[in-house]
Amino acid sequence: MTSATQRPIGVFDSGIGGLSVLRALRAELPNERFVYLADSGHAPYGERGDAYVAARTHAIAGYLQAAHDIKALVVACNTATAAAIHEVRSRYPALPLVGLEPAIKPSVALTRTGHIGVIGTRGTLGSSKFGRLMTSLQGQAHFVVQPCDGLAYAIERTTDHGPAAVQAATETEALCARYIGAMGAFGAQAGQIDTLVLGCTHYIFAEHVLRSLVGPHVQLVETGVPVAVQTRRLLDSAGLLAEVGREDAAAAGETAIRLLSTGDLGPLRAAAHRWLNLPASDCAAVAVPSAIDLSAQNTAVAP
Ligand code: DGL
Repeated sequence: MTSATQRPIGVFDSGIGGLSVLRALRAELPNERFVYLADSGHAPYGERGDAYVAARTHAIAGYLQAAHDIKALVVACNTATAAAIHEVRSRYPALPLVGLEPAIKPSVALTRTGHIGVIGTRGTLGSSKFGRLMTSLQGQAHFVVQPCDGLAYAIERTTDHGPAAVQAATETEALCARYIGAMGAFGAQAGQIDTLVLGCTHYIFAEHVLRSLVGPHVQLVETGVPVAVQTRRLLDSAGLLAEVGREDAAAAGETAIRLLSTGDLGPLRAAAHRWLNLPASDCAAVAVPSAIDLSAQNTAVAP
């Protein structure tokens, strides 16, 4: 039987975006095993509405515990955190749980002009959780908040092959240009936005596009590293940090990172290889049915 500390950490997102968090987790916690689940069969989450996203989050949290005996769960998705983290926490009170929210609190300490841009999905930025966060920071900076419909979905598809990937890259550039353009002037001068918070885990994979639009003097703020540090803290205080070095575990035949997808394996395989240098062989398809019928909730619109 696997000892409590040797059990894997579950990490999930609607798709490949959470790989940016997994990358930081792997660097912070090199002795740990991870099970990463991309809910690609039900992505994108951003424009679907809370009931749908909450149902998927519950289904996946339950699945990762039952099928993979996870010792902790990182919800590497701002949209799922906003829709369901409180309910997941009360349903599984013993499970160490880390969620993500746009890093606007730390951005207040970073800005010099006092003007902060925030991009994220409609689900995240329209949530009451985000509303409360904004209220708590009222008066401390000027925030420009921009929902980016379709952007996570376009980034997800840049991992396709051939013309589809080229088309998705063009779409990613066009959407970034449209949304960044709508936010106002970026730069280090008075009145300009000098700090851009990436409130969706997919967006860091379009960093080069965003950087080219906002210029060299704007700080891009994402959440991977702080989330990894917080995960370490939680595991440590629960006495759940893995004790054995990965070298020993690898010798025992354990896979350090297992990748699962509820949809097409192609994007996850390609993204994990491109961004984390992980072998495609560690990738498998799984079915994670929702406890409720989602057809009535499924309001997704791909732009
Ligand atoms: N990556 C997710 C987030 O951080 C959501 C992307 C989506 O499925 O819309 O919010």
